[in-house]
Amino acid sequence: MTATLLQGGPVAEAILAETAARVAGLKTRGIEPALALVRVGEDPASIVYVRKKREACAAAGIRSIDLEFPADIGRGRLLETIYRLNADQAVHGILVQFPLPKDLDQDEVVNTISPAKDVDGFHPLNAGRLALGLPGFVPCTPLGVVLLLRHAGVNLDGKFVVVIGRSNIVGRPLANLLSLKRLGLNATVLLAHASTVDLPRFTREADVVIAAVGRPRTVTGEMLKPGAVVIDVGINRIDDPTRKSGSRLVGDVDFDSASKVAGMITPVPGGVGPLTVACLCRNAAAAAAGEWSRLS
Ligand SMILES: NC(=O)c1ccc[n+]([C@@H]2O[C@H](COP(=O)([O-])OP(=O)(O)OC[C@H]3O[C@@H](n4cnc5c(N)ncnc54)[C@H](OP(=O)(O)O)[C@@H]3O)[C@@H](O)[C@H]2O)c1
Repeated sequence: MTATLLQGGPVAEAILAETAARVAGLKTRGIEPALALVRVGEDPASIVYVRKKREACAAAGIRSIDLEFPADIGRGRLLETIYRLNADQAVHGILVQFPLPKDLDQDEVVNTISPAKDVDGFHPLNAGRLALGLPGFVPCTPLGVVLLLRHAGVNLDGKFVVVIGRSNIVGRPLANLLSLKRLGLNATVLLAHASTVDLPRFTREADVVIAAVGRPRTVTGEMLKPGAVVIDVGINRIDDPTRKSGSRLVGDVDFDSASKVAGMITPVPGGVGPLTVACLCRNAAAAAAGEWSRLS
């Protein structure tokens, strides 16, 4: 079997177009959606991610407010900046790019962002709301995965899904989301992690396998049920002497073997990646409308 490729790009474009239409509607009501993008230090990957977020905002008609600080900004000044953004009614969403320099406490920063402006969905209040099935901001990558599956026509109702990786930004919120008693979700979810014994025993039974581990080749073709849907969230840079750059990006799934067994599979790059940024814009537009992430 050769799997159908689930490309994230077209879905991300559709999300951005839908968001742009929503933003245009808000502007006719005098609301100009604005997202603050806060970056601390000069981490090269963070610079690229923030640039992509700024470009996506522009594509959706969202005003991005760039706030760039030196790595030695200090706790007090960073928290003061967030308090000021929380109080500013012209700012609807606040994104602080992680990782932060080591002397800054990321949890404290997340806890300081107003839950109503927490478009990343990382605040404990939003995480708790998701776990309880209440309206809130859903983290962008899990939201993107669900929208990708929906776009591909995958009905999760009653399906057995194995999510590998239990981070607070991907695996855990994704497992919470997929198991909600909601139309198109309602899956039976197993959340696997590094201490899971005999992972293949579970993945071989799964209708959908989602890998969010940060380790290449965690999922191989022999670990899959024929026809399974495979979503690869991982982004890993590995050495590749055949490339001019000397390296390339791979996911957590061994694409060559998995694509021979799976029914559908996401590539890396070009799968889940583009959806995260599109969902950030979607959440920012929802925040400007005074709403939460909506799945319908
Ligand atoms: N596409 C995107 O937009 C996007 C967004 C975010 C992240 N990512 C990528 O997704 C990957 C995961 O990111 P993250 O932040 O969720 O990672 P993370 O915080 O490092 O969490 C990794 C998880 O994988 C589990 N794990 C490690 N080795 C394992 C193994 N051999 N078998 C089963 N589980 C194992 C860990 O288990 P323990 O809890 O037991 O340690 C942990 O729960 C990374 O490659 C990251 O770059 C992509």
